[in-house]
Amino acid sequence: MEKDLGNYRKSYEKSALMEDAISDNPMELFQKWFYEVEASNTVDETNSMTIATIGLDGYPKSRVVLLKRYTYEGFIFYTNYESEKGKAIEANPKVCLSFFWHSMERQVIIKGTAEKISENLSDGYFESRPDGSKLGAIVSNQSEVIASRDVLEDGVKALEAKYKGKEIPRPDYWGGYLVRPISIEFWQGRPNRLHDRIRFALQEDFDWKIERLAP
Ligand SMILES: Cc1cc2nc3c(=O)[nH]c(=O)nc-3n(C[C@H](O)[C@H](O)[C@H](O)COP(=O)(O)O)c2cc1C
Repeated sequence: MEKDLGNYRKSYEKSALMEDAISDNPMELFQKWFYEVEASNTVDETNSMTIATIGLDGYPKSRVVLLKRYTYEGFIFYTNYESEKGKAIEANPKVCLSFFWHSMERQVIIKGTAEKISENLSDGYFESRPDGSKLGAIVSNQSEVIASRDVLEDGVKALEAKYKGKEIPRPDYWGGYLVRPISIEFWQGRPNRLHDRIRFALQEDFDWKIERLAP
């Protein structure tokens, strides 16, 4: 089986990223881009991103998760702390997040370290979720092998009965991570493969060094 994709080619012409249009803090540029992507109404889940971890088997692995909050401190997402990614982060908290906003010809790549957020914050977010999502989080031993789908469906039914009319508590194996960035690279597609790449790198004095990279 073979398919040649050599002719897949696109010219990126939508925008530019120039030094005179950026502030000293990359989170402000992230916010600007995020708002612009949202306002464009061309991306289904602006907040979907991949997170790559180095696994216990030594291989990198990336998968999509949803960004649920960002601040000057960094990026927060929620997951199962005992999942494959949770175990990977436990052993090596250095991770890479990336966003690809295809319709805007933009990519953002964030290197940083992941840490668990406070239980209070995780509780707050868990409480805001619909009951079905809460039960789903409880019932899923994320990343474990299961015998069949029935394990999940039956598990949820049992939990529905257990928590009928009661508050559903956040399991302690589920919560948020904050990824504190040490480097954020913004990539804007440009014609003739002369793309704009601006990288912010955190310095020891907590200032951000801003550099342009060759595409
Ligand atoms: C659009 C999309 C959003 C997702 N959001 C999350 C999320 O916020 N948290 C999460 O744990 N998994 C999310 N997933 C599932 C993950 O991609 C992944 O399958 C899961 O976290 C298990 O990964 P792991 O076994 O590598 O730990 C999402 C998947 C997709 C496609």
